[in-house]
Amino acid sequence: MKIDLLLTNIKELVCVSIEGKPLKGKAMSSPDVYQGQAVAVHQDKIIAIGETDSLYKSYEADIILDCSDRVVTPGFVDPHTHPIFLKTRENEFEQRLQGKTYVEISQSGGGIRSTIHTTRNASVLDLYKLAAQRLERMLRQGTTSLEAKSGYGLTTESELKQLEIIRQLSDRLPIDIVATFMGAHEYPQEFKDNHQAYIDILCKEMLPAVKQQGIAEYCDIFTEAHVYNIDESRQVLTNAKRLGFRLKMHADEIEAMGGAELASELGCVSADHLGMTSDVGIQALQKAAVIPVLLPATLFSLGSKTYARARDMINAGLPVALATDFNPGSCNCDSLPLVMTIACLQMKMLPAEALTACTINAAAAINLEHKVGSVTVGKQADLLIWDIPSYKYIPYHMGSSYPETVIKSGRIVTFPLNSTDGQ
Ligand code: NIG
Ligand code: FE
Repeated sequence: MKIDLLLTNIKELVCVSIEGKPLKGKAMSSPDVYQGQAVAVHQDKIIAIGETDSLYKSYEADIILDCSDRVVTPGFVDPHTHPIFLKTRENEFEQRLQGKTYVEISQSGGGIRSTIHTTRNASVLDLYKLAAQRLERMLRQGTTSLEAKSGYGLTTESELKQLEIIRQLSDRLPIDIVATFMGAHEYPQEFKDNHQAYIDILCKEMLPAVKQQGIAEYCDIFTEAHVYNIDESRQVLTNAKRLGFRLKMHADEIEAMGGAELASELGCVSADHLGMTSDVGIQALQKAAVIPVLLPATLFSLGSKTYARARDMINAGLPVALATDFNPGSCNCDSLPLVMTIACLQMKMLPAEALTACTINAAAAINLEHKVGSVTVGKQADLLIWDIPSYKYIPYHMGSSYPETVIKSGRIVTFPLNSTDGQ
């Protein structure tokens, strides 16, 4: 049979899960790894994995890549990003170094509200170009699928505009993108003393409008003492659920306030951050099968001394996932390899666990585990070829981790993408 692409004699093929399923708890530390195998790709799919000799006999490939000195992994999946914004906030980074906290900065005119101020009325073209450049940098570092949130507009019109930009990015870039509506990212300045009025707009106007346009699969909320409390979060998420959105939460990032418990009560697909989550919260996530998405680069960027309890979550049998949380405020990090490094060093995750958390478990956190996140026959051919000794090198090396070749949906990606023109 004639096929498009054959990767042969792969020194180390990290399928992660050959069956294509998330790995929970202990299983996270023993992903499926093979030596000397070959992978056959036709059109956008992986069609066979096996001994190199036998695949050579069965297939005649247009392109053959000899991987005898290469590592092959699945493309990375980043299940939590905020890439649609106009201006960066490096001044706040400096303020934090001088002793101000993230919450203090938000309460004194900075933070999410300052990004809303600049982003709300920005043009679609400007926002599209900037986001396309950011996503291209992620793709260069191996991210072939990601989740992207709105949340820097907080009016119906501006939130729809951000989701429309996410849709355009998804149409034009070689990255699978899952869209999340995050109108509950903050209270807009004009509603800072009347939370209920904004919640009413969220529930009665914004969520139905987003649903009607079919441009977001998930609804997310920033549940934290200085933004949405538990009761406010329950109201918004219950309405979103009723309209058919899948749910996510920013939970227990700065304070343990029952975010994990609420995510479990409402059946969220994932609960994200979880920096301060208690034993009770961890048990609730386990019971309700909510995926913990940990964002250690955020806590690193905030200068935190403590991190989420990844080891306790793994010991409780949870399928821990990792994400960048790429955003202009708390975490301007677009590199999943760097997130893996921080996860290993600060949360004592093993390299195998970190890789599992950035691939199949991350895919499950955005309901894409049937399609991406592992090297599995029948899945989309999203593959990374690395010129490194072994996959353990990925978190070990710091600062410039680039796969040698990125394959997205069966095609070798060439950079620059030429997709930042927008319209
Ligand atoms: O995940 N927590 C809410 N959103 C981001 C911060 C966004 C910002 O500061 O602009 C986060 O940390
Ligand atoms: Fe976030």
